[in-house]
Amino acid sequence: MHLQFTDEQIMMRDMVRNFAQEKIQPWVERMEAGEFPREILQQMGELGLMGITTPEDLGGSGMDFTSYIIAINELSKVSAVMGVILSVHTSVGTNPIIYFGNEEQKKRYVPKLAAGEYLGAFCLTEPSAGSDAGSLQSKAVKDGDEYVINGSKVFITNGGEADVYIVFASTNPTDKTRGISAFIVEKGTPGLIIGKDEQKMGLHGSRTVQLTFDNCRIPADNLLGEEGEGFKIAMANLDVGRIGIAAQALGIAEAALEAATAYAKERVQFGKPIATQQGVGFKLADMATAVESAKLLVYRAADLRAKGLPCGAEASMAKLFASRTAVQTAIEAVQVFGGYGYTEDYPVERYFRDAKVTEIYEGTSEIQRLVISKHLLK
Ligand code: CAA
Repeated sequence: MHLQFTDEQIMMRDMVRNFAQEKIQPWVERMEAGEFPREILQQMGELGLMGITTPEDLGGSGMDFTSYIIAINELSKVSAVMGVILSVHTSVGTNPIIYFGNEEQKKRYVPKLAAGEYLGAFCLTEPSAGSDAGSLQSKAVKDGDEYVINGSKVFITNGGEADVYIVFASTNPTDKTRGISAFIVEKGTPGLIIGKDEQKMGLHGSRTVQLTFDNCRIPADNLLGEEGEGFKIAMANLDVGRIGIAAQALGIAEAALEAATAYAKERVQFGKPIATQQGVGFKLADMATAVESAKLLVYRAADLRAKGLPCGAEASMAKLFASRTAVQTAIEAVQVFGGYGYTEDYPVERYFRDAKVTEIYEGTSEIQRLVISKHLLK
């Protein structure tokens, strides 16, 4: 395996890197104050970033999976908020329709999602069904040519801002995971109630909301795949989605390492830059080694996926390791900055707050270990 990017991938990297520096960096403060970057998403749509891997005949850019991971990685170096918005929109907001939707559903939703006209969200987690996603309680009952959905969802990324929600509800509770079905619910459907907007430790510009489905009626045509196929749709897309979150975590870790290295070269104590003092130099060396290892795991999983090869275990390994690396590297970056690192004057405290959730969402680190061990025991 070689991890050399192609010319096309390098062009994508440079384009996203420049866009992030020029357009997103000036928005970071606004996002920190809680503003949702709708304007940026529109520009990303114009650049083809909202449908990087979406086939061209469905209005997307038709690029390979590694290019998509490069984009999340680059965006997240500047703003982890943009990384998670794009990852959720693409991996679990759009791809379920591309892979499991019928022709009508694809034509109706995918071009708009790829253009950034629509934003996608994924509604699996419930108050009592987080890691144990298969125990969800939401129900969907068929009534003529409609389904009626009732239930509650929590921690829905892009919720409230999204136009298209992929919703999981049971159509046959006695069948447990085999009774779960997936549905497409449009924003504004009566009975889809947008609830509390969570006040989070980090990722302030991203939306994380509670949703209630109160006799929410949708056309029966909005069933995604077959009845009972929902859990597999969720799992299959999460497998791949986890590589996106791993790339986001990698971006945070790289940003933290870069900031700490630059600061350590400038900051003079005891008559010389702290980077040249072994205590700090070794810390930077350990941070750089972990970041490089995470990079290899992330791009190895992406490469497998790009080639259409199984990547469930590798995706979980990438997420497990990259998220840990993001947290550790951000903690150490704050340490290198000393007192200044604990203030809002430098970005490392933001990296520190943004990093933690990468060990929690899209499957906690404990769930990644469960998935990896299941693969080992197969
Ligand atoms: N692909 C396809 N099918 C799969 C699969 C996969 N990766 N994993 C499991 N399945 C199938 C199994 O084959 C099985 O099918 P059969 O009944 O036909 O045999 C069925 O699903 C049930 O499998 P398990 O018995 O293994 O399921 P489980 O109940 O033990 O759960 C789990 C497995 C891995 C723990 C799963 O519940 C899980 O991933 N939990 C974490 C949930 C999660 O990641 N949530 C993230 C929410 S989205 C988010 O966070 C986005 C964001 O905001 C950033």
